Amino acid sequence: MLSDLYVTGVKLDREIPAESYLYNLPAIRHLRETDELPIRKRVTFFVGENGIGKSTLIEAIAVSMGFNPEGGTRNFNFSTADSHSELYQYLTVCKGVKRNRDGFFLRAESFYNVASNIDEMDAEPSLGAPVIQSYGGVSLHKQSHGESFMALAENRFGGQGLYLLDEPEAALSPSRLMRLICLIDDLVKRDSQFIISTHSPILMAFPEAEVLELSEVGIFAVPYQETEHFRTTKQFLNAPEQMLKYLLE
Ligand SMILES: Nc1ncnc2c1ncn2[C@@H]1O[C@H](COP(=O)(O)OP(=O)(O)OP(=O)(O)O)[C@@H](O)[C@H]1O
Ligand SMILES: [Mg+2]
Repeated sequence: MLSDLYVTGVKLDREIPAESYLYNLPAIRHLRETDELPIRKRVTFFVGENGIGKSTLIEAIAVSMGFNPEGGTRNFNFSTADSHSELYQYLTVCKGVKRNRDGFFLRAESFYNVASNIDEMDAEPSLGAPVIQSYGGVSLHKQSHGESFMALAENRFGGQGLYLLDEPEAALSPSRLMRLICLIDDLVKRDSQFIISTHSPILMAFPEAEVLELSEVGIFAVPYQETEHFRTTKQFLNAPEQMLKYLLE
């Protein structure tokens, strides 16, 4: 069956040198040992422990798809530090038959720089409408972290898009996170695809999504209720006092 996704999988097509730290990164080891990591749903989550390789993988997908490694649309080309890994050089993104018309790569660490870059572009003389217009009209620096993130998602994500988000929950309160879930749902209905790395047990519950858990043993699809994140959070919220007593004694 022909997929109507923009990204249908990722695979390694070149040998990673054994001396590179990437070689032994658990997520990458899994890619070395398998043919292809299929991306099967309109919403895919990468979950797993800190340092397991989620950002490395999502960033390599973004760079392979032509995004600025520091985040933004394809039109952003600023660079503040060469902080991205060379994984993209070894990775092939398998594409579907349709091409996305919109796209955004959100990297939690460099959202600030995306905001600065918009302000800088608008400070230059130009005949067109200010860039910030497509982001809600108010400088992202003049809004809180969460407000500016929602302004970006609600105004700039236009549908028929590929949206790669690295820990979008970092900026958001639980109720805004639920608003993001509604926005993702709306964009999915308008032919969009999301690949999201997250630690949020709320976000990963998005219906019909595939949760790929990255761990020491590889990358496997799991029901969100079975992820380490969900189970640990649930355990804590069910009995905070008990858990704290256990942790602190
Ligand atoms: N230039 C580098 N040299 C060596 N190791 C690196 C380099 N860059 C990243 N790493 C290591 O790669 C691993 C994967 O990092 P990555 O940022 O992808 O993790 P993550 O799963 O996104 O974690 P988090 O949940 O904390 O965001 C980390 O252990 C990190 O220390
Ligand atoms: Mg990360």
